[in-house]
Amino acid sequence: MLKGKHIVLGITGGIAAYKSAMLLRLLIKAGAEVQVVMTPAAKEFITPVTMSALSGKPVVSEFFTANTGEWHSHVDMGMWADLMIIAPATASTIAKMATGVADNMLVTTYLSAKEHVMIAPAMDLDMWAHPSTQRNILTLESDGVEVIYPGAGELASHLVGKGRMEEPENILKAVEAFFQRESLSNLRSESLKGKKVLITAGPTHEKIDPVRYIGNSSSGKMGFEIAAAFARRGAEVTLVAGPVSLPTPEGNIRRIDVESALEMHHAALKAFDDASIAVFTAAVADYRPSESFSSKIKREKDEVPVIHLVKNPDIARDCGSRKTPRQFLVGFALETDHELENAASKLERKNLDMVVLNSLRDPGAGFRTATNKITLITEDAVVSFPLKSKKEVAEDIAEAVCAAICGKPADN
Ligand code: C5P
Repeated sequence: MLKGKHIVLGITGGIAAYKSAMLLRLLIKAGAEVQVVMTPAAKEFITPVTMSALSGKPVVSEFFTANTGEWHSHVDMGMWADLMIIAPATASTIAKMATGVADNMLVTTYLSAKEHVMIAPAMDLDMWAHPSTQRNILTLESDGVEVIYPGAGELASHLVGKGRMEEPENILKAVEAFFQRESLSNLRSESLKGKKVLITAGPTHEKIDPVRYIGNSSSGKMGFEIAAAFARRGAEVTLVAGPVSLPTPEGNIRRIDVESALEMHHAALKAFDDASIAVFTAAVADYRPSESFSSKIKREKDEVPVIHLVKNPDIARDCGSRKTPRQFLVGFALETDHELENAASKLERKNLDMVVLNSLRDPGAGFRTATNKITLITEDAVVSFPLKSKKEVAEDIAEAVCAAICGKPADN
């Protein structure tokens, strides 16, 4: 299961250090190569000789070996490792990690680690429950460290944990789960490699005069999460974004900022021909003022201005009408009544391959929420999902598109 995996096992000075010998044995038995790093205090609890005998490698504890003067490079160790796990992690080491106090080899190695890091805290209950420890744990979690909660097997809670280190068998399970997740995400990162994806997101603002516009309350969050989900699958994403205040997600994402429906239409159609997949999440204004005033409209005493509207182009439909068999198009439908019928008719009317229906009736779905509840509609299937975070919803949509395009003709 862990064959060929390189693991740095950090051991700190807690009574649970004796359990690290068992953890080390389990890791080695599962096929991992393990480099043990001990804090000076850890050596009071278990000898480096035991650990080097079990790992088949000299234990690293000091910055250099006293008799030979050989320098131990924490940077090299970071390059070599696929995972760093600190078990047991004492309150003191956790505090040093959280604040960057690199006064021993173990914390120094942690600070230069590029690999995933896990800790298995071990201390008495008062120390564990102390606000200072809990604060440090939260800091580490927000830094991306995975915490194996004491007694997580029985009680998975920040404060109700027992302080006692999780059993080595369960730590091994967490290690195996990490590598499993990682190999899945590696597989996923290849699934749309090189595919070009167009995504429209956010609202549009239709100018009335230099300071006023017609808009809507779309935050753009759903579209940005979808852009991130496709980028995670190796796609080259073009994100045409209306006026939103969101940072561009990480990955291969080219962002084109636009204001109005006409600008969005222009940018989207330009990117469309090259795209294999297009997802239209934008809440495009259906109408725009027939003229926009070049200076601010003044308040007149008796006269009320009348704004005449004209229809905006339908970006999804215009792309749909140009669609070739190698392209897969996804539209959104936000409906209040006859949801399924309306969404299904959009599939046909706009020549789309999939419609994501979010009902305004579902609490937590739609604009300005962090969650969404969707139904995916294709020509031959209707699949409903439970209420999820927008990130998870984006994953579901990207997965469904991946599965659907497996049967599509290849590019070129
Ligand atoms: O027709 P309706 O606005 O309900 O359709 C919604 C879908 O069409 C969404 O995917 C939306 O992004 C897209 N759309 C568009 N351009 C418009 C209006 C809607 O791309 N002008």
